[in-house]
Amino acid sequence: MQLPSNIDTRHLSAPAGLSEAARALAAGGLVAFPTETVYGLGADATSGEAVARIYAAKGRPSFNPLIAHVADLAAAEREGIFNAEARALALAFWPGPLTLVAPVAPTCTVSALARAGLGSIGLRVPAHPIALALLEAFGKPVAAPSANRSGRVSPTCADHVAEDLAGRVDVILDGGATQVGVESTIVACLPDGPRLLRPGGVTREAIEAVLGRALPREEGAGAVIAPGMLQSHYAPHCAVELEARKGHPDAAILDFHGQLAGEPCVARLDLSERGDLMEAAARLFDALRRLDESGAARILVAPVPMAGLGEAINDRLARAAAPRGL
Ligand code: TXA
Ligand code: MG
Repeated sequence: MQLPSNIDTRHLSAPAGLSEAARALAAGGLVAFPTETVYGLGADATSGEAVARIYAAKGRPSFNPLIAHVADLAAAEREGIFNAEARALALAFWPGPLTLVAPVAPTCTVSALARAGLGSIGLRVPAHPIALALLEAFGKPVAAPSANRSGRVSPTCADHVAEDLAGRVDVILDGGATQVGVESTIVACLPDGPRLLRPGGVTREAIEAVLGRALPREEGAGAVIAPGMLQSHYAPHCAVELEARKGHPDAAILDFHGQLAGEPCVARLDLSERGDLMEAAARLFDALRRLDESGAARILVAPVPMAGLGEAINDRLARAAAPRGL
């Protein structure tokens, strides 16, 4: 696909730049904006033409459905049909890092292109004052994938967005570093029962507590069930090796809880010296970007526990380490 790379990108600070950003959306343009998880690359979800620009800017295969961001549950229920479980999850976790996949409602305004032609739609109310203010000012659903080039790690600050997308988007709305650091958890609430499509910012345990039952475990890291979730997805340029127990003079170390302190390396970053998984999630993508730039041939990653947010962190690390070109 031919990528436009000659747009004069406006860097605006939030909240001052909010109304200009909303005008850019209304004009069919692309606006990168902060959410509590990662930065999103937004366009008017109701316009197929505006949504097409997202795919072009990201270089993303067009079969990948996008999340429609809305201001509240009432707006979400115009787009998707919420069963009792979907409503319970929305009431418990919205605004927040949870995306619900529901059957498309007859009143749905989101373009078929944003849904990749599916009969279901991914919806989310983000917990970020700037994202919510933008959604309210614009007044329509905003389709937004993470604001990175396809295959790169997701952006957790405006500088990351500029690295990947300057010249390809109309506005980058700077709201500082994101709090959660990994993308939203995706739960499908379809007639065959709730399923976890992607681990993320809301833990499996928290969702199961609201549903009162265990979510079935999907095999294969969710690669087939969330369409377009390519296995090698969060790929830094250098090779990534997981479960490292020691360092190497040519390698960079992505550590957790000081497990590889004192080991030989080019550079070492610790996701959380005190072993806090929330802190580790918030730092993950920035650390991968920084170690990628360290000049090391590969990144050795210390083991991260699977509990709580560890499921999302390990999912992203497994994708970063997956064979390329899948
Ligand atoms: O935290 C997040 O979710 C961020 C921020 C910007 O909101 N967004 C994000 O979008 O991570 P993206 O496009 O990188 O990932 C969205 C995922 C894709 O893997 C897609 O397959 C899945 O959501 N998805 C969207 N609609 C779906 C549907 N109807 N059925 C199944 N999966 C869907
Ligand atoms: Mg993404």
